[in-house]
Amino acid sequence: MSAEIVMEKPGKTSPKDWRFTPHVAELEASIIREMLKFSSLPGVISFAGGLPAPEMFPLEEMKTSCANIIDRYGSDSMQYSLSMGITPLREAIAARANERGIKSVCANILVTSGAQQALEMVTRVFIDPGDVVITEYPTYVGAIQAFNYHRATYEYVSMDSDGMLVDQLEERIERCNPKLIYIVSTYQNPSGITMALPRRRKLVDIASRHNIPIIDDDPYSELRFEGDPITSLKALGGDIVISLGTFSKLLAPGLRIGWINGPSEIMPLFERVKQVSDLHANTFTQYMVLDFLERGLLDGHIDNIRADYSAKRDLMIKAIKEYFPQSVKITHPAGGLFLWCELPEGCDARELLDYAIEEKVTYVVGKAFHPDGSGENTFRLNFSNASHESIVEGIKRLGRVFGAHLPGGEMSQ
Ligand SMILES: Cc1ncc(COP(=O)(O)O)c(C=O)c1O
Repeated sequence: MSAEIVMEKPGKTSPKDWRFTPHVAELEASIIREMLKFSSLPGVISFAGGLPAPEMFPLEEMKTSCANIIDRYGSDSMQYSLSMGITPLREAIAARANERGIKSVCANILVTSGAQQALEMVTRVFIDPGDVVITEYPTYVGAIQAFNYHRATYEYVSMDSDGMLVDQLEERIERCNPKLIYIVSTYQNPSGITMALPRRRKLVDIASRHNIPIIDDDPYSELRFEGDPITSLKALGGDIVISLGTFSKLLAPGLRIGWINGPSEIMPLFERVKQVSDLHANTFTQYMVLDFLERGLLDGHIDNIRADYSAKRDLMIKAIKEYFPQSVKITHPAGGLFLWCELPEGCDARELLDYAIEEKVTYVVGKAFHPDGSGENTFRLNFSNASHESIVEGIKRLGRVFGAHLPGGEMSQ
């Protein structure tokens, strides 16, 4: 007869009163990840997440990769592996960087669990509470989360359609002695804006003169819909730029494989931080990416994604022109996943989101991308994830909301 063990709950146990670190207790949930919960409800059309198109995942090829890996690498594919990442994948990432004019060798590359981890690791390496980070304005919400977690303070540099207004940078650097300049230089999340070449040159020049590292978070530059590829900040600036990459938008985010490309002499710092975080990136999915690359499939796959997203961008812009009041201004991104929208001054995208949710359509409010919580009249739309039919229907629904609630909205329909 087995004895039943009854766990008594001692009278004073109260987990919510345990003494958490203040920065964790104060951490806000990512608004986008919160929206994802609503977005999965039936009938909801979501333009909120930054999700790739599910129908573009190369499932059959991935199935082949899984079998190839087990045949070829056997138990190694299931084993612990090096903190810097598996060597052939690092070499392959370095080779792809060289094709884009970024001089790189294996020693420059550390494989991460996505670009988000790369960003958090960079923050751990550089930021003590109170340290200053210079960011674009608006900037990527996941970077704000990482910087807030480490209690960074911000200096913002505004943008126009050619990216960060780098003329304002020197004064900011001299005034606040930043640790980092953080930038999403190409098809920015959230705005879709790409920094123009002369600004890129000026940025690396200023950063080099002051010896302030630029973190170029670059998930999107290969998702170009038109024009020639723009020279990357790292190709221009070399070691002054630490570039963060990811296979999330090129292959599949669930694999969680990204990388840091930085100066070889500081990579051991990242290696140690990686050991503290999670020892190493997922061995099996590193091999999956490697197999996909070695079979020469990635470039063709990226071409397919570019064609698909470019058509969706065009469709969304066409629908917006048809259904939104003219007072709603949008960007026209040449690549990436996002459109950035501006309502007339004084309108609140957060208030309008409640009406949008009633219509079962969502977007992300612009406030999420402004570390100071401003940008009330702005919001972001994702065009990669929804089907063509849902893009038109969702924009129609938003058009109804704006038509009914924006000043003069109904007249411009
Ligand atoms: C600018 C930027 N950085 C980092 C990430 C995180 O990407 P990953 O899935 O590789 O962690 C994203 C994802 O949307 C992003 O837009």
